[in-house]
Amino acid sequence: MELLLTGATGYLGGVVARRLAEAGHALTAVVREPSRATGLPAGTRLVQGAVESPEVLADAASRVDGVVHLAPSGGLATDLAAARAFTDALAGRGGVLVWTTGVWVLGPTDGGAAAEDSPTAPIALVHDRVAAERAVLSAADVVRAVVLRPGIVHGHGGGIPALLVEQARRAGTGVVTGAADVRWPMVHVDDLADLYVAAVERAASGSVLHGVAEEGVPVTDLATAAAHAAGAGPGWTVRSTAETATEVGAAFADALATSQVVSATRTRFALGWHPRRVGAVTDVAAGSYARPSAA
Ligand SMILES: NC(=O)c1ccc[n+]([C@@H]2O[C@H](COP(=O)([O-])OP(=O)(O)OC[C@H]3O[C@@H](n4cnc5c(N)ncnc54)[C@H](OP(=O)(O)O)[C@@H]3O)[C@@H](O)[C@H]2O)c1
Repeated sequence: MELLLTGATGYLGGVVARRLAEAGHALTAVVREPSRATGLPAGTRLVQGAVESPEVLADAASRVDGVVHLAPSGGLATDLAAARAFTDALAGRGGVLVWTTGVWVLGPTDGGAAAEDSPTAPIALVHDRVAAERAVLSAADVVRAVVLRPGIVHGHGGGIPALLVEQARRAGTGVVTGAADVRWPMVHVDDLADLYVAAVERAASGSVLHGVAEEGVPVTDLATAAAHAAGAGPGWTVRSTAETATEVGAAFADALATSQVVSATRTRFALGWHPRRVGAVTDVAAGSYARPSAA
């Protein structure tokens, strides 16, 4: 397929672009600054634009068979305009739109694991994303509309776990924000990229997919692993969200303190997706985040 990507220069986007190209898809990437768009798969065409330029998105989407949207939210009005630009451009010709949000739209999960059809209760940081999900899914009769919610992504030394390692390096021990019983749903970026390929190729229209390999990893385990990777002392300490907020801002600190257990059982069955990469704790302690001497 000919596919348009947003966010292709980012952490997830770079890996997703590579996997899509390996699977034989031809790529066009919408990028804000073409001179910074290095490292994309050979043959990737570049279109200069942004989430805030719906006319560019619409024109680029009108030339492809599908869109994989990975750029972060630009706010409610911007996201709705972008979703509309994509759905209008793909409508009526079997086009696929895979729209990325994230598991934070589910909010804290107090009971059992949240599933793909659980009610949303977004934390403040991602408050606008639920309306964008609805807008995308409401176009499911004219495009093959798919919402994909990744868990917390690890792998290749990047993403939020890299922040845990940096916090541990500075604090001299693992750092947990909020409370000692916080859990995060985790996924390796390579497994997640496999899910994007499966979603593009065969997800049913109207699907909500969870990109989660490990349903609820104790953040104390991740923090202990991060301390090991940083060469800091063993163990962990709990830090208040207010304290972490001074480093990363209040909304992101609240997100780090959000405890979730999230299931991807329906996603796995629907698409035959089998995450198989190293788990997050091992990856952080002795994998892609580890100092060579700590591995
Ligand atoms: N990382 C995670 O653990 C995680 C978990 C759940 C969901 N997600 C979601 O997954 C998506 C990708 O996350 P990520 O971690 O890969 O983010 P990232 O590394 O920060 O990459 C963001 C990408 O989006 C592009 N971008 C930013 N603002 C843009 C705009 N206004 N218009 C067009 N492009 C723009 C950036 O391009 P430039 O090169 O121009 O900066 C970059 O390519 C986001 O929607 C994020 O919320 C991430």
